[in-house]
Amino acid sequence: MEAPHNPATEEAEPVARTSTPTIVRITVTSPEQMQELGRRLAKLLRAGDLVMLTGELGAGKTTLTRGLGEGLDVRGAVTSPTFVIARVHPSLGDGPPLVHVDAYRLGGGLDEMEDLDLDVSLPESVIVVEWGEGKVEGLSEDRLQVLIHRATGDTTDEVREVTLTGYGERWTAADLATLAA
Ligand SMILES: Nc1ncnc2c1ncn2[C@@H]1O[C@H](COP(=O)(O)OP(=O)(O)OP(=O)(O)O)[C@@H](O)[C@H]1O
Ligand SMILES: [Mg+2]
Repeated sequence: MEAPHNPATEEAEPVARTSTPTIVRITVTSPEQMQELGRRLAKLLRAGDLVMLTGELGAGKTTLTRGLGEGLDVRGAVTSPTFVIARVHPSLGDGPPLVHVDAYRLGGGLDEMEDLDLDVSLPESVIVVEWGEGKVEGLSEDRLQVLIHRATGDTTDEVREVTLTGYGERWTAADLATLAA
């Protein structure tokens, strides 16, 4: 006898979601190396990618983004803008533009974030967000989280531990491990 047909359970069937994020840890020992990591990471990025940069003031988020900008070959210097919250760096070639967001000065207000229309630009851009925790996760189910922190016991103040965590199917396929090589 056939099992009773139950649409409710069928709809509840899990849509194969990746439960384990891909995690890669890298030690960086100078600002130049951080920028170089950005250049290499840029090679893995494509339109539609959301990268969240996390780490305390002066951790090196903007330095990494500078490398991303070089690797993506975009126009304009990547800086820490005082008044600008988001800056679009168009590609100098045929790659995606880099949208660099520094949400530090944005209050918790999601409205301000929505005003940036990041959801509109995401499909054709690479969006990199500093201080975006709790503000931009809703933009995409797939995101690359880059956590930068100063190594404990570092006497030169130039050693950083970088942890890249790829959430979602996009990042299971991307070979983040090549960055650690
Ligand atoms: N290994 C390193 N990687 C990156 N920056 C480093 C490193 N070592 C020293 N630095 C210095 O730390 C500072 C990092 O500044 P940066 O603007 O990139 O940080 P940030 O995380 O963007 O800060 P903020 O939260 O203010 O935006 C720079 O002055 C840089 O020269
Ligand atoms: Mg910064």
